[in-house]
Amino acid sequence: MADEMIFHVKPSFAASARVNASRFGVMTNHAMQNPDPYWLEQARRLDWFRFPELAGNGSFDGDVRTSWFSDGTLNASVNCLDRHLAENGGRTALIWQGEVEDAVRHVTFRALHEEVCRLANVLKGLGVERGDRVATYLPMVVEGVVAMLACARIGAVHVVMFAGFSASGVAGRLRDCGAKLLITADEGRRGGKRIPLKTITDQALLELDGASGGSPLHTVLVVSVTGADVPMQAGRDHDYAALVAAANPNCEPEIMQAEDPLMILYTSGSTGAPKGVLHTTGGYLLWASLTQEIVFDHRAGDVFWCTADLGWVTGHSYVVYGPLTNGGTTFLFEGTPSWPEPGRWWRLIDKHQVNCFYTAPTAIRALMREAPASLSDTSRASLRVLGSVGEPINAEAWLWYSQAVGGGRCPVVDTWWQTETGGIMIAPLPGAVAQKPGSATLPLPGICPVLVNDKGIPQHGESEGHLCIDRPWPGQARTIWGDHARFVQTYFSTYPGLYFSGDGARRDADGYYWITGRVDDVINVSGHRIGSAEVEAAFGTHDKVAESAVVGIPHDVKGQALAAFVVLKTGGEDADAGLEAELARHVGQELGRYAAPDLVILASELPKTRSGKIMRRILRKIATGEHDQLGDVSTLADPSVVQALVERMKR
Ligand code: WTA
Repeated sequence: MADEMIFHVKPSFAASARVNASRFGVMTNHAMQNPDPYWLEQARRLDWFRFPELAGNGSFDGDVRTSWFSDGTLNASVNCLDRHLAENGGRTALIWQGEVEDAVRHVTFRALHEEVCRLANVLKGLGVERGDRVATYLPMVVEGVVAMLACARIGAVHVVMFAGFSASGVAGRLRDCGAKLLITADEGRRGGKRIPLKTITDQALLELDGASGGSPLHTVLVVSVTGADVPMQAGRDHDYAALVAAANPNCEPEIMQAEDPLMILYTSGSTGAPKGVLHTTGGYLLWASLTQEIVFDHRAGDVFWCTADLGWVTGHSYVVYGPLTNGGTTFLFEGTPSWPEPGRWWRLIDKHQVNCFYTAPTAIRALMREAPASLSDTSRASLRVLGSVGEPINAEAWLWYSQAVGGGRCPVVDTWWQTETGGIMIAPLPGAVAQKPGSATLPLPGICPVLVNDKGIPQHGESEGHLCIDRPWPGQARTIWGDHARFVQTYFSTYPGLYFSGDGARRDADGYYWITGRVDDVINVSGHRIGSAEVEAAFGTHDKVAESAVVGIPHDVKGQALAAFVVLKTGGEDADAGLEAELARHVGQELGRYAAPDLVILASELPKTRSGKIMRRILRKIATGEHDQLGDVSTLADPSVVQALVERMKR
């Protein structure tokens, strides 16, 4: 039984680990018993202009206004760059590997610092001020990292948008955050194809201009990635490289309050449009830095490869802020895992001597299918720690990762966390905690998970329930941009006094946590969070669609896939040939290809309760063919709808 499998910490690993079992115990006790001194001690890992005297303030009750280190001042870019210059300015801060094999850049801390300062001056010259929002819509290129740090340097709030978003997705986010300036590229590369980012940007900006009230966005900087000839609108669009080359390479950092916003990052929830999760400077940076060091047993100079896109929180915390604050070399890959050949990632690990590799179960499962052939001719001997994030990892994938990729040498850290938590919350510290395949294991020091049953009562010992967190921690989101009431409602109203994650989990007899997946209407496709409401809204913009319901169904590689039940305005199920595919494409265009459903089922009606609520539980069973396990359908307004759908699926 995989559940019973346990991988003990190797004494040789523990001997030189950052945190061994006894240190882990000390940290955990200290964090629980003397939280303020503990967190202030941790805060020493950052460089402050003024070191804080205050640690945490506030609670998860009432209005949920929490702050950390609020009398401290610092700058995030100084912590990522300047602090390393004196002794390690010549060390590689970032290795960029292009999709083309020979396209490689090694950027030292000194060079990165210089480019960040130049861009910071460009932004200032274009009227960006402290507190203004600056958005990016870029592929995986060095400029993506530079842009984030340049914003941090001048106190602007960065809003990084995944390059897979559609024009409407970009417009919606720009509108919500009120960005003044956008940094994009001519094109991105993806699996041998080109993504026309500037063209999509132009469409997004047209949509934005057309919106009521207009938009404060006045400037677009365009990075030349492929060198494509793209239209530039005079007065609005500027060539990034030309401005940066002409700018002053020195830029004094803004002195930021710990609670000044650092970033807004959009993420999907159960309801409504994606929400702008806001992280502040001091607490977030501490959390990214501390967790990167202790969870991955990081050493200055290590080459750290987190495969996440910069557009997701994993890219923020573990491509940029974690490794760079800790003086690591972060590795940025422009391409996709298996292009042009299946073993590309493994070859890159050898080529760049990567020490720590951090990816998602979806990728692991896809790569597992291509093995063992794809692993041959690679040694992966440089690897010391392997990490997993984004979705539950099944034991089979875990074991393959540990044994085939890591050669049985490397601990596997399965890390549970979320956009809202800022960084890793539950994970085995590799020198301290034995691993069980499929379990995220134990909380980090200072983190207090609580499992709540369906009656809202916290469970003790071995149990299962909704995963909540008691007690604030430094890395947590402070609010939803422009909508604090939604923040309180979404995370703190279900179980008053607790942060509710939206995930379910089980705790075993050893106190280990096993995340079972979302318990709300968020669907996790290939580690990407997609809200069913968002996809349903996208269907709603198609002129033939009256109504739809989207559910997640299990998928071998992606973890979950989207299945959509769609009711047409004509009411009929017998629509034009190919309409299902057209509807899926439509959603892809509205939201981005990553959110296009795998399965579209035309229905004449959806199963609803008498109060009109769609019964997704039943739709999930129907979509997976578990027709005999529909459970109680007596609360439905019209139970015959279910039978009709089952018949439809059989056809
Ligand atoms: C899921 C990504 C199981 C979970 C960092 C969570 C996981 C959502 C794990 C957050 C894990 C993340 N095991 N599930 N190790 N890590 N998740 O905001 O459902 O993009 O709520 O943050 O991913 O996704 P997000």
